[in-house]
Amino acid sequence: MSLPEPLTVMITHAIASHGGPRGAILEALRMVQHAEGWVSDERVADIAALTGMTTAEIDNLATFYSHIFRKPVGRHLVMFCDGASCWMNGGDKVAEAVKARLGIGFGETTADGRFTLLNTCCVGGCDHAPAAVTGRNRRLVGPLRADTLDGLLT
Ligand code: FES
Repeated sequence: MSLPEPLTVMITHAIASHGGPRGAILEALRMVQHAEGWVSDERVADIAALTGMTTAEIDNLATFYSHIFRKPVGRHLVMFCDGASCWMNGGDKVAEAVKARLGIGFGETTADGRFTLLNTCCVGGCDHAPAAVTGRNRRLVGPLRADTLDGLLT
């Protein structure tokens, strides 16, 4: 299967706008993820074919960024910060509570496909530490407490 026509058009435009394929790869990955929720091996191959780059080059970039998902994710993403400010403010205790409540570890999705829990370094809310980003609109939540996770998991 090849890229849907709208994605082909948008990525081709991105290549032209960024002075060539290398500058447009991250944007292409983001476009695919926005359209399909994640970036499959098939889409990596499609982007490689469209840009003239190798699948290894595309995959290297895709796996470098924690916000590019190389496997399907749940309907609700919880991107939990494990940066220094959050850790110093008790983030490890909150992380354990989140994992216990969901019954999954980092990098996993609940059996019902509802939640995917990811850890990431600094979500840009150090003044709200410990913090996380959740939902499709990437809402910043914090400061979190282990005994009040409802704002995070709803
Ligand atoms: S270290 Fe957690 S938001 Fe910055």
